[in-house]
Amino acid sequence: MIRLEHIEKSYTVGKLTVPALRRVDLDVKQGEIFGVIGHSGAGKSTLIRCINLLERPTEGRVFVDGVELSALPDKRLQEERRKIGMIFQHFNLLSSATVAKNVAFPLELAGLPKADIRDRVRSLLALVGLEEHADKYPSQLSGGQKQRVGIARALANEPKVLLCDEATSALDPQTTNSILALLLDINKKLGLTIVLITHEMHVIRSICDRVAVIDGGTIVEEGPVTEVFLKPQHPTTKDFVEQVADRFELKEALAHEKAAGSRSIVRITYLGETTYEPVLFEAARETGTPISILQGTISRMKDTPYGQLVVEFGGSDSQVSDTITLLRTRGFDVEVL
Ligand SMILES: Nc1ncnc2c1ncn2[C@@H]1O[C@H](COP(=O)(O)OP(=O)(O)O)[C@@H](O)[C@H]1O
Ligand SMILES: [Mg+2]
Repeated sequence: MIRLEHIEKSYTVGKLTVPALRRVDLDVKQGEIFGVIGHSGAGKSTLIRCINLLERPTEGRVFVDGVELSALPDKRLQEERRKIGMIFQHFNLLSSATVAKNVAFPLELAGLPKADIRDRVRSLLALVGLEEHADKYPSQLSGGQKQRVGIARALANEPKVLLCDEATSALDPQTTNSILALLLDINKKLGLTIVLITHEMHVIRSICDRVAVIDGGTIVEEGPVTEVFLKPQHPTTKDFVEQVADRFELKEALAHEKAAGSRSIVRITYLGETTYEPVLFEAARETGTPISILQGTISRMKDTPYGQLVVEFGGSDSQVSDTITLLRTRGFDVEVL
C-alpha cells in the first residue's frame, strides 16, 4: 500500500545541510498497522511526512496505493492526498470551530453537498464516540476527546491510509490505551492501513503488526513486532524493549545469578496459546532436571499472547542439554544467557 524507495531527506538551515533521513526503504502492506519507533530527533516526523509529501524527499520515490506521489504535479498530488488522513500529537484542531465543524471542514473543502456533510459528520462522530459533543468547542474537551475529533476529521474523506504522528504522546496512559483501541477498531472495521510513529514501545506492542526502528535517520531494524520485540538485535531496539519493564528487571536478576556462580540460565519464550501449557515442567520431569524459575512474564502483543521464563537448570550437562532439546522440539525458543 505504501512504498518508500531509497528516501533521502536533508534540510537546509542557512548555509548548513542537516541530514534527516538516509537511504530509507519501507514497504507497508494493505490493512496492516505499521509502527516506526525512534528517539527524539531520529527522523520519525520527517519520515511520516514524506509519505504524504508534506516534506519532499531530497531523493527517492514515494508510492501510495500504486501511485507514485513523488512524480505528481501539485494538483494531482492534492487529489491523491485525500486518500491519506493524518493525526498529530497536538491535535491541530480549529479552536474557533465546534467539533462538528472541525470534522465537516475537509468535506466542505472537497465540495460535498450540505446534507451529505451533515450525515457523514454524524456517522464519523458516532464512530469515534463523540455524538454527544458535536456542538462543543475544542477547549471544552479532554485530550483524548480532542484526538477523537482529530481521528474523525482524518477519516472524513474515507482515506485508505491513516498517518499518526505521535498521536498519543500528549495523553496519559489510560487515554493512550483508549485511543489505541479506537485505532485498532477502525483498522479492523474499515480495513484502513495505519502508519504510526512513536517513542513508546508500549504503543508498538499494543497494536502494531510490524515495526521499524529508526536511529539517526536510518532504519536499523525491522520486522514483525513479535520478532523484534522478543529478539531485539540493535542496541537502540534493546533500549526500547527495556522501556517495557520486565526485561529491565531481568538484567538485574541475571547479574545476581551470575555473581552467584550459576551456569545454566536460559530464557524460554513461547508465543500463542501454548503460553499457558505447563510444558516446561513436563520436560524437566522427563529428563529429571531440577529447575528454578528466576523470572517470568506473560503478556500480549496485539492479538498474540506470549510468555517468557528465565530459569536456571540444575543437574548434569547432558540433562540440561536434553531439556533444552526437548523444549526446542516442542516449538519453544530457548536462549542460553
Ligand atoms: N524544518 C526543519 N528544518 C531543519 N531541520 C529539521 C527540520 N525538521 C526536522 N529537522 C531536523 O531533522 C532531524 C529529524 O527530525 P524529526 O524528523 O522531527 O525527528 P523526530 O520526529 O524523530 O523527533 C532532526 O535533526 C531535526 O532537528
Ligand atoms: Mg517528531
